[in-house]
Amino acid sequence: MSAKNKSHESARNVMGSVASTAVLFDGAVRRACRFISSFASACVILMAASQVVVAAGDAERGAKLFRNCLACHSVEAGQHLTGPSLANIWGRKAGTAKGFMRYSDALKNAGVVWNEQTLDKWLKDSRDFIPGNEMSFSGIKEQQPRQDLSAFLKAVSEGKKSLAGGMTGIVKINLRNPNPQSEVKSLRHCGDTYFITTVDGRTHKFWEFNLRLKTDSSDYGPAPGRPVVVGTGMQGDRSAVVFASPNEISSFIRQECQ
Ligand code: HEC
Repeated sequence: MSAKNKSHESARNVMGSVASTAVLFDGAVRRACRFISSFASACVILMAASQVVVAAGDAERGAKLFRNCLACHSVEAGQHLTGPSLANIWGRKAGTAKGFMRYSDALKNAGVVWNEQTLDKWLKDSRDFIPGNEMSFSGIKEQQPRQDLSAFLKAVSEGKKSLAGGMTGIVKINLRNPNPQSEVKSLRHCGDTYFITTVDGRTHKFWEFNLRLKTDSSDYGPAPGRPVVVGTGMQGDRSAVVFASPNEISSFIRQECQ
């Protein structure tokens, strides 16, 4: 028997056992291949066989795995957080979510279209796939969860799945209709202290270094001229006042000690 035939023979045998046990994973195959490296072509076939053993992506499981992404991504169209909304990425060019202004040049110029293959590489090791991108995410080593996430994102794009009713991530608080405890009536600065008077009539004092001044110009942000105080609650020592736009900040704050 020639060497070629021999290796095919052994590949058939091993593939038989893959089918019967169905527990052969990529890592095991690679180890086995190092071990039987003389049968190079058997290894190629084996690698292919091991890919088959990984079940197709499951969107339900993917939805749960998406909790790893929630800190930075929403699947609501147009809701951009640290990262772009992933609502309609399937089949779309990377770096083109409408209204997301913080893409790296690397991602924008990558010339990648999102599908099973490209998402798999991105989720495995985005730095390796698109060097210079700015997603701070370490990657997912196992193939199955990557496929599940991919299936979930595909289902989202097809309108078959959302996270509504299930898990939610950074739920951006809707600041449009704040309660009287949160809506800021006036804000003054004296010495090293901010005095925030809310619509319910109470005044809260903050050391200036502990109060952040933020803006949210999205649909979830406060109405113009009606800033809102948010944060660790009034008991906490840190908070933020959110304004509709940056030019409101200095005009709203009075420099006054009485
Ligand atoms: C720490 C924040 C963070 C986490 C966590 C994160 N991402 Fe991202 N993601 C980003 C940022 C920022 C970008 C844009 C990167 C750039 O422009 O280089 C991005 C880009 C993407 C893109 C490309 C989108 C487009 O419009 O082309 C995909 C797809 C993606 N992320 C999927 C995921 C998935 C799935 C997870 C969870 C497994 C995840 N990300 C976790 C921040 C994050």
